[in-house]
Amino acid sequence: MGQISENILITNEIDAQLQKIFEQKDFDKIFVLTDQNVAQHVLPLIGSLADFPAFIITPGEHNKNLNTATEVWQFLTQNKASRKSLLINLGGGVITDLGGFAASTYKRGMAFINIPTTLLSQVDAAIGGKTGVNFHNYKNLVGTFTQPLYVLVNPLFLKTLPFQHFRAGFAEMVKHALLSSPTDWQLIKSFDLENIDYEFLKTLIHNSIKTKLHYVQQDPYEKNLRKALNFGHTIAHALETYFLDRQMPILHGEAVAIGLIAEIYLSNQKFLFDFNKVLEISAFISKNFPSYDIPYQDYEQILSIMTHDKKNAFGNVNFTLLKDIGEPQINQVCSKSNIIESLNFYRQLSMR
Ligand SMILES: NC(=O)c1ccc[n+]([C@@H]2O[C@H](COP(=O)([O-])OP(=O)(O)OC[C@H]3O[C@@H](n4cnc5c(N)ncnc54)[C@H](O)[C@@H]3O)[C@@H](O)[C@H]2O)c1
Repeated sequence: MGQISENILITNEIDAQLQKIFEQKDFDKIFVLTDQNVAQHVLPLIGSLADFPAFIITPGEHNKNLNTATEVWQFLTQNKASRKSLLINLGGGVITDLGGFAASTYKRGMAFINIPTTLLSQVDAAIGGKTGVNFHNYKNLVGTFTQPLYVLVNPLFLKTLPFQHFRAGFAEMVKHALLSSPTDWQLIKSFDLENIDYEFLKTLIHNSIKTKLHYVQQDPYEKNLRKALNFGHTIAHALETYFLDRQMPILHGEAVAIGLIAEIYLSNQKFLFDFNKVLEISAFISKNFPSYDIPYQDYEQILSIMTHDKKNAFGNVNFTLLKDIGEPQINQVCSKSNIIESLNFYRQLSMR
């Protein structure tokens, strides 16, 4: 089950895999990029990284910026990295995005390997070749499409991940399952977040990565099909900005959980997606995620954020919706009244 594609592997034997890669490839130098939490909890578990120079950043999204990228470039320069060197990005999405960006631009591109250590990065951020940093309050404004040389995933590294972050990554897995098939949906529905079975989790991570890859491989530069992965995200992005403006930031995955509920409702409005399934899916998500109060009087503000999102052309709000589980429909426009209804649907659920 471990090998998902030529260069993506799920394994509890990261050290052995690294040794194999180091023997096959002729790197002149090897470096590690990580953050303080991962340096404390995960780095000591990978013996073969012990001797390489490591650049350790302060954790957090606010450090995914050009200043930190500059520090990584400085670190590489001071250590005389060349185009034949390797950077190993060990961490969550902040590290894989930042490290991928720094490596893909250093000397016009050096190789990098992602070893993701959050659930979100294992099933999403480390896969697919998008790298980048935030710039002037815009997320991921500066970046590249560059594939990592390898992605090595060890689900056991998640044992020290705080639960809130685990759950946030799980929202993306629920999205992948709904994009994939009724079988994947039934499987994910039977996962117990409160009592994690790591063998079962490994299977779910495997399926989740396969779904992401399915879209990435057909459309690596996000011209059309890859947009399916935006399911749940139109409303999620607006809510992330809305809660940030209210100085009550929520995690991206927490916003995705709300977005999935609202957009599955929109899928029923637009494509008659079976309403019993709408209820089943929203009940599962509500059971596992906190509920947020989104007052009626703030709907206009949320709609206005949506119409100003750079992904929504010509004032229309663009959605990926589902005809059925496993049947995404990209580039769907929804009316303002339908969007409001979908927020009301979430509101009613969250007040129960
Ligand atoms: N490139 C893509 O396709 C893509 C896709 C989705 C998200 N992203 C990006 O991913 C980022 C979010 O990633 P994230 O949620 O992994 O956040 P993160 O990298 O900030 O990690 C979350 C927290 O968990 C800590 N941590 C990581 N692994 C740990 C472990 N094993 N044990 C203990 N603590 C650990 C980190 O230090 C951090 O505090 C965002 O910047 C987002 O834009 C990118």
